[in-house]
Amino acid sequence: MNYLDELKKNPVPVHVAVIMDGNGRWAKAHGKPRLAGHRKGVDTVREILYASRDAGVKYLSLYAFSTENWSRPEQEITGLWKLLKLFLKKEFKTLKKNHTRLKISGNISMLPVDVQKEIQTAVSSLSSFNDFVLNICLNYGSRNEIVNAVKAVCKDVKEQKLNVKELTEKKFSEYLYTADLPDPELLIRTSGEFRVSNFLLYQIAYSE
Ligand code: FPP
Repeated sequence: MNYLDELKKNPVPVHVAVIMDGNGRWAKAHGKPRLAGHRKGVDTVREILYASRDAGVKYLSLYAFSTENWSRPEQEITGLWKLLKLFLKKEFKTLKKNHTRLKISGNISMLPVDVQKEIQTAVSSLSSFNDFVLNICLNYGSRNEIVNAVKAVCKDVKEQKLNVKELTEKKFSEYLYTADLPDPELLIRTSGEFRVSNFLLYQIAYSE
């Protein structure tokens, strides 16, 4: 029996969220530069993406770049954007063939313009698909997401588009980037550590 048959004997999570770290440590352990670790990380992204789809997962959220990651050396940041752009270019055909929608959570206006363009092209070309949703979190921070959601709620209340009495937990979640996604049942941190690092804090309330 292969691992997929084994997996499918139990309920499969609908939404899996992944904090992708350990790249730097992997590189160090192999005597390579940090960027080689990120390159290896992209191979793992590909593996996770297609394995989760085959297993019956519907939504995959990947923490690719946090609001805190800007403090990394410029060369590493530039390398990460190049890797992301290359990933989108290379994977586009397969994402399309698999009817995968691409969603971005986070403020991408601070990314290099060519990377923003690549993202926008992929997002709009894949926007009609719904078999699988790949949610890449870029320049994402959960506290920032929550504060922005509160601001949007205040605005809607002020403009009488929302009555405070109607503000439930469910309603509030509609103001988050993940409005159209169910909460993740499973949160994986690839390095094996047990910290949530400002990732989907509202959404992972009941995640394992
Ligand atoms: C954290 O590992 C990882 C990152 C900051 C970058 C993750 C991004 C990618 C793998 C590339 C692009 C993404 C996609 C979706 C194609 P770390 O460097 O903090 O590792 P460490 O904890 O061992 O130092």
